[in-house]
Amino acid sequence: QEATISGVVEKGTIHKVAWSVVENLLNADRLKRYEAHLNAERVELAPELFKDSIRAKLIIDANKSKKISDLLIGVFFEDINYAADGGLYAEKVQNRGFEYSPDENRRDPNWGHTKAWSADETKITFRIDTLSPVHTNNKHYAALQITEQGAGLVNEGFGGIPIKAGDKYDFSLFVRSPEPRRGKLTVRLIGKNGEVYGEAHTKTISKDWKKHEVVITARETINDAHLEVIPQMTGRVDVDLISLFPQKTFKNRKNGLRADLAQVIADLKPRFVRFPGGCVAHGNGLNNIYRWEETIGPLEARKPQWNLWGYHQSMGLGYYEYFQFCEDIGAEPVPVVAAGVCCQNSSVGSNGQQGIPLCNMHDYVQDVLNLIEWANGDPKKSEWAKKRAQAGHPKPFNLKYVGIGNEDLITDVFEERFTMLFNAVKEKYPEITVIGTTGPFSEGTDYVEGWNLATKLRVPMVDEHYYQPAGWFLNNQDYYDKYDRNKAKVYLGEYATHIPGKRCNIETALLEALHLIGCERNGDIVSMTSYAPLLAKEGYTRWNPDLIYFNNTEVKPTVSYFTQKLFGENSGEEYIHSTLELSDKQDIVRKRVAVSVVKGSNMGDLILKIVNILPVPISFEIDPVNLGAIKQTAVKTVLHGQPDDRNARPQTSQIEIDGIVATSLEPYSLTVIRLKTQ
Ligand code: AHR
Repeated sequence: QEATISGVVEKGTIHKVAWSVVENLLNADRLKRYEAHLNAERVELAPELFKDSIRAKLIIDANKSKKISDLLIGVFFEDINYAADGGLYAEKVQNRGFEYSPDENRRDPNWGHTKAWSADETKITFRIDTLSPVHTNNKHYAALQITEQGAGLVNEGFGGIPIKAGDKYDFSLFVRSPEPRRGKLTVRLIGKNGEVYGEAHTKTISKDWKKHEVVITARETINDAHLEVIPQMTGRVDVDLISLFPQKTFKNRKNGLRADLAQVIADLKPRFVRFPGGCVAHGNGLNNIYRWEETIGPLEARKPQWNLWGYHQSMGLGYYEYFQFCEDIGAEPVPVVAAGVCCQNSSVGSNGQQGIPLCNMHDYVQDVLNLIEWANGDPKKSEWAKKRAQAGHPKPFNLKYVGIGNEDLITDVFEERFTMLFNAVKEKYPEITVIGTTGPFSEGTDYVEGWNLATKLRVPMVDEHYYQPAGWFLNNQDYYDKYDRNKAKVYLGEYATHIPGKRCNIETALLEALHLIGCERNGDIVSMTSYAPLLAKEGYTRWNPDLIYFNNTEVKPTVSYFTQKLFGENSGEEYIHSTLELSDKQDIVRKRVAVSVVKGSNMGDLILKIVNILPVPISFEIDPVNLGAIKQTAVKTVLHGQPDDRNARPQTSQIEIDGIVATSLEPYSLTVIRLKTQ
């Protein structure tokens, strides 16, 4: 049949239904339109709208307080946008194990086992072989046939190798040669035109695979050096796992992290680190599920893996390194394992979410239990804990949280496997807090079903994810106010404000601050939060916005980073009830001004965080009644700018308190005031 709808003739079948069904459909449509209207709201307003100056008075009720989570601000590290290899992992050689496979990155025609490597083919033939490798988990190696002595194999790093004059670099490789007359290797840091910026020599190489290590000191500071390995002989030479690390890694750890990047993360004062993903954790297809046990032990024994964001994971940054990093920055490790299913967006296998066959689930469950044993067990009693001790950490890592699942669709396949994993962990390690998942959105079927499952199984905490437009954050400040206090606690594992252009600026930073104020207010049930994603390498970015951008030599935190930092540095353990009285009662004003008051455990400071998303200043004061005795000077830190400002940075000053706490709140600002109690 045909019907004309809004002037357009549509073909279809006409069914007669009760009017209530039509009404429900119309209401659902109206609601969608209304939500879209709210979500489209942006923060910018014309200053002319506010003729009268705006005053705000805060009445603190110190008698009304509640305990809130001391883990509220953390970070979520996922190997996305070259966050690990070429990023936080300090290795300078790209494709060190010749394990890049052409399937990993179809956009790059040069992607494959020789990616990032080159040789002068008139003097040296360079091919890939797999016969009797260093380790079966690293099957490929470079088989060189040298016809003219002096020819070398060159690695370009990840878009060049940055070196610093005077700094020392640890070079290592596995090498062998079947030739009767074998020589040494010369290793050089070279420039584009062959300039030598540092050099070292190994001992004479042997017939069988052997690891050689030398130190090269850089003579110049260069951003795009290359590494050259020159066998001092002719004939056949096999090389693998060619590695170059600066000695100056974060906390000087071997196989460690890039110091400047690790430091900028540490500066956030994160109380926990969630890793290794995200989608990386549950993988594209069952064979791509992240297997923690394949990322520990000697580097040659680790199993490299395709990265679903279109590149490669060497696994040099593996579980040991993640746990060590957490310990180094005083953060709780929060590993996430797949819930026995791969990502619902999988394009590999039978497409979509697929479950590990039930006949293999027993082994998979055991792998997850082994993780806890590896992290916390006694090396004298447990083989897994012994592996941890052998890697250099005899003491337990004191793991308390394990995430099971990553924003999965809550299907029967998921539920069955999640339940098996949850029950097994609960039974063997009741002290571990399992974090479940509620799908990819802040509402909808998976969100509802995820919560239902968590409630049914009594999962102690669930991981929520939502990337939302500006208007959503402006209009959903009460999101957690309505949550049932008797259900699971919340870990807001991934969130960010997505505005057109996908960038971070004052607008996104203030909206995230607004949301964190809501999280602090609900810190009795919101236990943890982490912005996502954390890192992105310029020129290698697949997902925007990210909290911290970087290249080979620079680290570029975004404005949103400073919101996280201010909340991380100024977190509290007690939430103090307060009421904000505004002189302007308009709704646009009410929803643009928010405050939270917390008490820090150390020093007992009273910490105020105030967001002003208006284009005009607010004269702000605290009602002295109930404030208690405070010292005369307070510290005030302000992050402010125009909504599209991408370069704003917090400024700190001292304010004198002359009996009364009064100050001005800049237009479009986040202000943190630390009052010292007496
Ligand atoms: O943070 C980027 C991606 O967003 C994560 O991998 C995934 O969990 C989410 O869809």
